Amino acid sequence: MVSLDQVVEDAKRDFDGAADSAALEDAKARYLGKSGILTERLKSLGGLEPEARKAAGAEINQVKAAVEAALTARRQALADAVLQARLSAEAIDVTMPGRGQDVGSLHPVMRTWERVEQIFRSIGFDVADGPEIENDWFNFTALNSPENHPARSMQDTFYVEGVDEQNKPLLLRTHTSPMQVRYASAHVARHAKDAVMPPIKVIAPGRTYRVDSDATHSPMFNQVEGLWIAESVSFADLKGVYTDFLKTFFETDAIDVRFRPSYFPFTEPSAEIDMAFGSGKLAGRWLEISGAGQVHPTVLRNMGLDPERYIGFAFGSGLERLTMLRYGIDDLRLFFENDIRFLSQFPA
Ligand code: FA5
Ligand code: MG
Repeated sequence: MVSLDQVVEDAKRDFDGAADSAALEDAKARYLGKSGILTERLKSLGGLEPEARKAAGAEINQVKAAVEAALTARRQALADAVLQARLSAEAIDVTMPGRGQDVGSLHPVMRTWERVEQIFRSIGFDVADGPEIENDWFNFTALNSPENHPARSMQDTFYVEGVDEQNKPLLLRTHTSPMQVRYASAHVARHAKDAVMPPIKVIAPGRTYRVDSDATHSPMFNQVEGLWIAESVSFADLKGVYTDFLKTFFETDAIDVRFRPSYFPFTEPSAEIDMAFGSGKLAGRWLEISGAGQVHPTVLRNMGLDPERYIGFAFGSGLERLTMLRYGIDDLRLFFENDIRFLSQFPA
């Protein structure tokens, strides 16, 4: 029979050799389990004389306590190791350089867009949106440019596959003016039962497309349409509203605005609005930023309005042009090249 000291040593060795808690519990059973070595020894005490039994019992119990202490120590060690492994697996190196977050910013043309919306909203204009793929009626015919009208060639058009209900080809809208008729007709329908129709006062910013390409023309560009129709809106209102808009937009009163007589089929009289700064880098250089005019009676009729009763003005301005002037940019193609060196000059 092995000595009790040897039992303690064997137990310690077995416990330390247990790689995980399952193995440790197996080892424990060999010593302290129902038929473990120490349990058997205690059972065998029954055959001894009382005095001897007492002494031997005390000795076995001491050994048992030593084995139990070794077991507890190993249990703790195994638990610590598990915790350590988990901690190092989940460790975060706080000294590691961060991945960084590049802060984006709004495209300068989109800033202009938002600014224009904000300014016109502040003077009571609604903001509307409409389709970029248009049909012949809204883009041309309703705007008093019937088929074969020479004015159609003012806007070189991208046609797309497909036709509308009239079997006319679909196209990419060449201007935001179709929104005049879309918005006004809906407004008229909405107020058909009202005794008095509230004024139509709306802007419609959006993308437009033409077969155009040079330093001040791009095949895709943005316009903002403006429309104000009521019972007495005059050309003087157009001049006032638009000039105030420009002063607010450019945050200066030192701008010259010129209404240059022009022609659009959908307005009469018509004008191009040019502007120039009184001072600064671009001083004295006129740039056309908008077409405008008094809404043509035929267009009013196509909106469902009586031209004897209603009158109003419309304008269509280039958002890229406004942006070029605001930041002193002389080539609008820069807006579409996505060159980060250019775009990062317009931080948020
Ligand atoms: C029109 O598009 C008319 N629909 C404007 C209008 C609306 C007149 C309402 C009367 C009443 P125009 O083709 O001139 O007009 O274009 C208007 C503005 O869009 C121009 O002044 C210019 O600022 C801008 N623009 C026109 N073509 C381009 C282009 N290819 N690239 C960038 N901007 C352009
Ligand atoms: Mg023009």
